[in-house]
Amino acid sequence: MSKSSRVSEIYAAPGNAGTAEIAENIDISYNDIKALAQVAIKKGIDLTVVGPEGPLANGIVDEFKANGLRVFGPNKAAAMIEASKVFAKDLLQKYGIPCARSAGFSSYAEAKDYLQKQKMSIVIKADGLAAGKGVTVAETMEQALTALSDIMQTRIFGDAGNKVIIEEKMTGKEMSTFAFADANTSFPMISACDYKTVYDGNKGPNTGGMGCYSPPYFLTPELSRRITREIMDPTFKAMIKEGAPYQGVLYGGLMITEEGPRVMEFNARFGDPETQVIIPRLKTDLLDIMLGVTENNLKDLKIEFTDDSCVGVVMASGGYPGIFKKGLPVSGLKDVDKDIMVFHAGTRLDSKGMVVTDGGRVLTIVALGKSIDEAREKVYNNISRIHFDGCHYRKDIALFDKNL
Ligand code: AMP
Ligand code: GLY
Repeated sequence: MSKSSRVSEIYAAPGNAGTAEIAENIDISYNDIKALAQVAIKKGIDLTVVGPEGPLANGIVDEFKANGLRVFGPNKAAAMIEASKVFAKDLLQKYGIPCARSAGFSSYAEAKDYLQKQKMSIVIKADGLAAGKGVTVAETMEQALTALSDIMQTRIFGDAGNKVIIEEKMTGKEMSTFAFADANTSFPMISACDYKTVYDGNKGPNTGGMGCYSPPYFLTPELSRRITREIMDPTFKAMIKEGAPYQGVLYGGLMITEEGPRVMEFNARFGDPETQVIIPRLKTDLLDIMLGVTENNLKDLKIEFTDDSCVGVVMASGGYPGIFKKGLPVSGLKDVDKDIMVFHAGTRLDSKGMVVTDGGRVLTIVALGKSIDEAREKVYNNISRIHFDGCHYRKDIALFDKNL
């Protein structure tokens, strides 16, 4: 957004060392909805863009609108599409939108009974928000039973585990697709592939995402059209029929099976690190799109992307997605080539103004190229110039043939 000629000032709450270079960081948690609305009023902020799912699910958009503020993102009712997997699943089933066969439960005994009768591989999902950790793809019945009991009895995700979904495991290629929508129109956007597990070869536990590339190598124009026609458009129409029109960017987590595209989940926001590889491909001014969404005139806009490919690799803290240290100095940020983009996630400036680590996923290193291979090579030629103690990253992002 800082590249838009019409943007004069940017604020980020709470922000990090990266946003400090282009914005004024405001030290308020993104969960403190009321305080954020007050700041937006005081500073005369013309447009607020909501990043994470938590405040969307808690009604930040409703609060901002009630205060006469312009805000990009779905309201509380529409954000349910991410905040409750049972809500999303009921919607998909009611409107015949393709997804895995599944059943939802609020009783542990009933869920366990149903689970024990299943023969195929099974996926167990906590209903609510669980920071990307609420899903277990179980290889054995024992694993499935443990996941169920962790969610519903030990309650490792708290109230997010009041309900569960038990669903059939699908096989195919995974991709994330994004579409903008205002209250009347939707615009099919762009897709990326995210690498969820922490280690090369898709091994190890799931993370928020360790790297990404766009466009997916298997995405043909025909598949793209099917996704729009069979999944994204019907979902927006369904939300309108349900009285909860979706305004913002909708993230479809899809499995491309032999029978066609199927929904795994929806997110009510941009993806991380997907955003870092799709926005660099955007030709249209992002501000125009966001204003188009908030003012319901998306239909008047032409949204265009370049034919370039884009690759992003996440540098994570030692120990992530488990326990990791914070506050470690990050060096080499200025040593990368001019055409490399470095996006910050878990970083902050220490008391001396030095960049230090402050989270699990610390940086995403991104490059555009004429091909995926070119973009990937640029990233990996540069990534080792950046360093912090314990840092690790996958070496096989966008080496798709071996890993998808
Ligand atoms: P979700 O949070 O629903 O995207 O799930 C996280 C990950 O679990 C996905 O990226 C998939 O790798 C996997 N997953 C979720 N649902 C299914 C399913 N029905 N079949 C196979 N894998 C799944
Ligand atoms: N990369 C997955 C997500 O943003 O949920």
